[in-house]
Amino acid sequence: MTIQAVRGTRDILPDEVAGWHRVEAAARELFARYGYRELRTPVFEQTELFARGIGAETDIVSKEMYTFADRDDSSLTLRPEATAGIVRAVIEHNLMNTDPALRVYAIGPMFRRERPQKGRYRQFHQVDVEAMGFTSPTIDAEVVELALAFLDACGVRERELLLNSVGDRACRPAYVERLQKALRDLAPSLCADCQRRVETNPLRVLDCKVPADQAAIDTLPRITDHLCSPCGEHFAEVRRQLELLGIPYRLSHRLVRGLDYYVRTTFEVTSTALGAQSSILGGGRYDGLVKALGGPDLAGIGFAVGLERLVSLVPAAEAEPRCDVFLMPLAAGALDPALRLQRRLREAGLRVLLDPEGRSFKSRMKQADKLGARYVAILGEDELNRGVWTLRDMSQSWQLALHEDDILRHIKEKTNG
Ligand code: HAM
Repeated sequence: MTIQAVRGTRDILPDEVAGWHRVEAAARELFARYGYRELRTPVFEQTELFARGIGAETDIVSKEMYTFADRDDSSLTLRPEATAGIVRAVIEHNLMNTDPALRVYAIGPMFRRERPQKGRYRQFHQVDVEAMGFTSPTIDAEVVELALAFLDACGVRERELLLNSVGDRACRPAYVERLQKALRDLAPSLCADCQRRVETNPLRVLDCKVPADQAAIDTLPRITDHLCSPCGEHFAEVRRQLELLGIPYRLSHRLVRGLDYYVRTTFEVTSTALGAQSSILGGGRYDGLVKALGGPDLAGIGFAVGLERLVSLVPAAEAEPRCDVFLMPLAAGALDPALRLQRRLREAGLRVLLDPEGRSFKSRMKQADKLGARYVAILGEDELNRGVWTLRDMSQSWQLALHEDDILRHIKEKTNG
């Protein structure tokens, strides 16, 4: 029996990779303009980092992590998201003391054992952006603006920005108590997960996607009606600055997000073009997380984009040309000069291929055609005797007899002209 990829994982094949390159290049180019630098953290960490960082009662930690015992019995977990690992690295390397504008991004695979479906995988990729040490609402607006500028740079225009504030340690406990009270009356009519959440983590009920629960959940008290004045003022200023920058958004009072570290601003960008898994990116403020993970009391805000979903929305990129020159050593003794020429042309920056299997002329021409070769260079019996190559232009069907030394010059002239 053949072995197949693990359920929920997928191969990114060479024909698809141009879209991935495009979004990765857009990220690197754009983020640099906003002062972000790349950081790479390991794909596995100590399990406790995620349990403490993301919250033990979240779906991610309670049911979706790939956790395993290392040979020394310590518990390790494949990262389900990037933020916790980045915060760990910032603390471990004291970046807050050495970086005067702590802004970083990371690109890489994440792992969650969710039920696979279109747009939802068990290994998926994120571009993740984090800014730390800023409490001002200006950075909230800037991070949201950056998220949208990234989608613009990728050519994704059909989208909606959802915005909320989930309060902070000062105002959220009283709201959660109020919410829990209201939920206890509703609980018997809610799904089993929500009934459990009423006691363990009432805010998570707002995240419920079960259709039968929605009408009841919509009647619950809204957090934005119960913000303390500092949170209320912060949120008002974020909204004012977004409006100043001409960024449209929709308030969504149920946007509590699937991770427990958020305070104040939360946001998501959705696209109807994605189907059921409509969220392209999500993020928010996480003041308190750095401290909870053993660091200083440092504010933080960021977002992560799901790359599988983003790439599926990116307009198809033109396929990269695969081959400038296809070499055809046909005569006996033609291989050695062909290998020399191949190396020379590649060193000069051209894309060069030859068929080392020595197939027939006809089948090599077919190959050159399929590869989209612009030129074919033939070295047959006759050429070998005369000390030249036949260079054939595949689109205009002219051909020339050229000495090896002239081939490169000729192609360069044609390409630049
Ligand atoms: P998240 O909302 O869990 O946030 O994930 C962000 C994005 O990752 C989602 O909007 C989605 O596009 C993609 N994603 C999540 N799960 C899957 C999956 N199973 N398959 C495919 N794509 C998926 C975070 O991860 C936070 N760390 C974001 C953040 C950064 N907040 C602050 N800083």
